Amino acid sequence: MRRHRHQVRVSTLDSSDVHPAWLPPEALRAIGTRRTLVCGEGTLVDTVHAEVERAANRYGGSARRIAPETGLSPADLVFALTRELPATQSDDPPPGESDPAVVSAAIDAAKAELGAAGVEPLGAEGFAVTRHGEVTVVLADAPAGLLYGLFELVRLGESGFGPAMPARVCRPAMARRMLDHWDNVDVHPVMGQVERGYAGGSIFWRDGRPRRDQARVTAYARLLAACGINAVSVNNVNVHATEARLLTERLDDVAELADLLRPYGIRVHLAVSFAAPVVVGGLPTADPLDPAVRGWWAETTSRVYARIPDFGGYLVKADSEGQPGPFSYGRDHADGANLLAEALAPYGGVVHWRAFVYNHRQDWRDRSTDRARAAYDHFAPLDGRFKDNVIVQVKHGPMDFQPREPVSPVIAAMPGTRLAVEFQVTQEYTGQQKHVCYLAPWWSEILRFAPWGEPGRTVADVAAGGSDQAGGSDQAGGGDRTGGGLVAVSNVGDDRFWTGHPLAQANLYAFGRLCWDPGLRPQTVLDEWIDLTFDPATSPDPELLRRTLHEIMDDSWRTYERYTAPLGVGFMVRPGQHYGPDVDGYEYTPWGTYHFADRDGVGVDRTRATGTGFTGQYPSPWLQVYESLDHCPEELLLFFHHVPYTHVLRSGSTVIQHIYDTHFDGVREVEAMCRRWEWLAGLVDPTVHARVTERLTEQLRCAREWRDQINAYFHRKSGIPDAHGRPLH
Ligand code: GCU
Repeated sequence: MRRHRHQVRVSTLDSSDVHPAWLPPEALRAIGTRRTLVCGEGTLVDTVHAEVERAANRYGGSARRIAPETGLSPADLVFALTRELPATQSDDPPPGESDPAVVSAAIDAAKAELGAAGVEPLGAEGFAVTRHGEVTVVLADAPAGLLYGLFELVRLGESGFGPAMPARVCRPAMARRMLDHWDNVDVHPVMGQVERGYAGGSIFWRDGRPRRDQARVTAYARLLAACGINAVSVNNVNVHATEARLLTERLDDVAELADLLRPYGIRVHLAVSFAAPVVVGGLPTADPLDPAVRGWWAETTSRVYARIPDFGGYLVKADSEGQPGPFSYGRDHADGANLLAEALAPYGGVVHWRAFVYNHRQDWRDRSTDRARAAYDHFAPLDGRFKDNVIVQVKHGPMDFQPREPVSPVIAAMPGTRLAVEFQVTQEYTGQQKHVCYLAPWWSEILRFAPWGEPGRTVADVAAGGSDQAGGSDQAGGGDRTGGGLVAVSNVGDDRFWTGHPLAQANLYAFGRLCWDPGLRPQTVLDEWIDLTFDPATSPDPELLRRTLHEIMDDSWRTYERYTAPLGVGFMVRPGQHYGPDVDGYEYTPWGTYHFADRDGVGVDRTRATGTGFTGQYPSPWLQVYESLDHCPEELLLFFHHVPYTHVLRSGSTVIQHIYDTHFDGVREVEAMCRRWEWLAGLVDPTVHARVTERLTEQLRCAREWRDQINAYFHRKSGIPDAHGRPLH
């Protein structure tokens, strides 16, 4: 393809030198050129008005705040609450302007349309966008809906002001749409300021103190609201000494963040230490059944709510990787979680209690212990014992955010518990924001997975909660509770592009959008992100820009999978840092992550018949599917089975030849990405172009290293040459 050299676009970095990501000023151009009325009271309505006003100041429109009784004035766009609709104004309009009655009629028509369609109520965060005559109307039952309606209109751009359109009614699938920051307040000697952070320092904390970069946190809140996130936990789940004090004497630091996030509808949560009664409270025990411990949590929590009335709740990693927990007192995780739930209940708070509990000190010689089994073994027996405001937060797979894992069986095992499903937006095991790896296709696959078989409730349905109307079986449980929603580990830092790799911004955007609507297609989400971030309308070659970004990103997760650990076996990464290949790095360690490669074969036998029995944690039909070598999905073959290198796949290729082929293919795909990105020089901001170019260079180097180490390793083990005679080293 021909190489394009166009006029270089004006840099979109703002004065503070932070990239605007998916909210550059141009994203609000369509709104900013209109006359807008904002009707309603409250912080979030203030935010909507401020957003529109800023855009209007830039693009020549106007933003008028009105009270319901003020009366209308001519407008192209109205934001209003269904219960406080503005009254019609009977004054004559100024010459040349549309009659306020036209505006009033549009509002009435919008309201009537919703009534006729039977879509009311819109709910706490839902909204409707409609267009009648020359007026676009955003209606919501509550202020949060107006905020989300504003950002929907941002996505619609000029098409939100075109011909009359039927009402777009949107409500979030998940009530909770949360990001967990693994940010440390103190710089940790091993993990740094942000554990598993690949984008510089923390936007919240620096060297033991609050960072107090208000502009940055506000910009972050805006970005999150624009993709639908409504909860943020502001410190690492591994709670060290200083961080434990955020709950008590450092609470003001948390309140400051809450003040900045609140105007964008985001509630603050805090990761707390289960041992807090001892380490910050001075009690001799943190035993969950001890009355003094219960009293301490009740008292401490009341102080938290006195300071932060809309505080979201606690997040706890207990009895996991060295964090304290109820096991120390001979109690179980229901006892532990219920202790905190009881303290939070009077204020409507929740405790997110993580199910990531396993033995990280196991003996590699012991073939009966299987880390994949751990979360189910610990938690499934506790189903039904958790209080209503406990959300058990389950990693999407049974291991740890590998590029390919089966869906965690815990998700199907706890119908009497509110579950949240946890994803990892930060790319710990998927290239650490040095590699392009658009994760929405992977998340989408997980969210659409039906744990009880098709047709039936999906992972997204379980996370969303609600009644079981999706055709699931009785086993699927469900009830009519709100589910725990979706949670992900954030990928931002103080890097000027937020995420280190500018294209990794798309993962954060996509996570929020999939929380809102898990049925969205990953390519559609990518289109939204491209439209907002790159403003293709002003690009000299919008089609080339869009097509190339899709070509680079759509399949980038599968490309990553191809050149790293094969067929679902996982964890062939360098221990500790988790970047780059090290096939045997974890093989003889206590972490429980093995591949068992020998001269004859590779993979982990997790069957009931001959292996660890992990397959038995799945309901039918997956139990039988995973148990069977013939039916197991091949991308998970080595996760569930130990097979000879000569095992023939459904493609007709052997396992060993598949390993060689995918590794050569993966690297070729990265080479193609690099070429394609070059075509975009002149079509994207030069600073973005330079940063991505730098990252792609590293990705290519690393992908070649993966290819050569994996291929050489398996060639040396198996002694089987490549059928195509390529060098295996
Ligand atoms: C992974 C990661 C840790 C993290 C842990 C968790 O193991 O490497 O850094 O603390 O997950 O999810 O708690």
